[in-house]
Amino acid sequence: MNAIVTEVKRRGRVSFATFMELALYHPQAGYYTRPRTGPGPAGACGDFLTAPTASPVFARTIGTLVQQLAAALGEAVTFVELGGGEGMFLEALLAHLGTQRPAAVRRVVVAEAGAWARARIAERCRDVEVVAGLAKARWPEGPVVLFASELYDALPVHRITVQDGALAEFFVEADERGGLRWRLGEPSAPGILTYLGDCGISLVEGQVAEIRPTAREVHAAHLRWCGHGGLALVLDYGHPGRRLYDPRARRGGSLVGYRHHALVADVLGDPGETDITAHVNFDDLERGAADAGWERGVLRPLGSFLTMHGALALLPARVAGGEPLSPDEWGALGEVKRLLLPTGMGSDLKVLAQGRGRPWQAYQRLATSPPADA
Ligand SMILES: C[S@@+](CC[C@H](N)C(=O)[O-])C[C@H]1O[C@@H](n2cnc3c(N)ncnc32)[C@H](O)[C@@H]1O
Repeated sequence: MNAIVTEVKRRGRVSFATFMELALYHPQAGYYTRPRTGPGPAGACGDFLTAPTASPVFARTIGTLVQQLAAALGEAVTFVELGGGEGMFLEALLAHLGTQRPAAVRRVVVAEAGAWARARIAERCRDVEVVAGLAKARWPEGPVVLFASELYDALPVHRITVQDGALAEFFVEADERGGLRWRLGEPSAPGILTYLGDCGISLVEGQVAEIRPTAREVHAAHLRWCGHGGLALVLDYGHPGRRLYDPRARRGGSLVGYRHHALVADVLGDPGETDITAHVNFDDLERGAADAGWERGVLRPLGSFLTMHGALALLPARVAGGEPLSPDEWGALGEVKRLLLPTGMGSDLKVLAQGRGRPWQAYQRLATSPPADA
């Protein structure tokens, strides 16, 4: 029997948050943590594309931004990536910096939960500190740039609904055929009600929603690690709470699985083989920032963020001149369009920029939208 199903059976009945933790991070069988020899989860050969794996222009744009920030500050920054996967983003970013790396980046830290993935990062990227969690890295000196792509949407969620006027939680239990099934019950922890009250979330009868009460504290801890001055760029799927929990827009929640680039509706089937994700409530990250003494920040669609930070200048050179493109250049252009156009990733993915101290002031001067006629 599947190790995760066995573990759920042993425990009797678990909240969906506990199931998601097991399905993604069980040491031997979790989707992100089980040992892998073939392709990893993210990328064309895996189960889903992320912005960094969709086009190298993404990492180059962030690399250029880090260079501009370091120049504005007059000193190199500590660059931190959270949930670095196999290191594809970091590899492309460091290649883009090339010999200019010391002027922009004094230290590179990457935190990644999967041991197999940490080994691949260490192979791919020279002179980087690879750790299982940020708490394991020594404190930084000077300004920090913290970057995370699709980290928070991979953190466990509770799944809740309203039934006969009362709040109910979805639990997971083993069935008689060696699989798993849903079971509704009373909320597993008082923290769920407190979270809904604090966030002003009220669900209507039959509405299903996912909540992540831990995200605020996790994010605050990441920002506190940065010390007194930093910029955080968090890239994820999600919305502010008022939109995420609006019953007219999203009555069934946002929980989905991904496998071989296809949506998987049954997130309980084949645990450990399927990615499971639910949208981020960006209010959680704004509250976490406030708790840590950071600015709550600015949320932008990915396409606008990349355009504002000069991604168009990184398109194949002949695009600007309207000259004929080679097949490779057409391919590269197609990849970038995915990130920039206001359909799909360009608008569904958001970038939350937050900061504290001098790096935040310097970033705000760089984050100026191009004139409307540019
Ligand atoms: C959806 S993948 C994104 C990978 C990569 N950032 C990208 O955009 O292609 C999420 C990654 O975050 C990692 N992760 C999840 N929780 C983590 C944590 N608390 N600390 C470090 N890594 C974590 C997972 O192991 C996984 O590699």
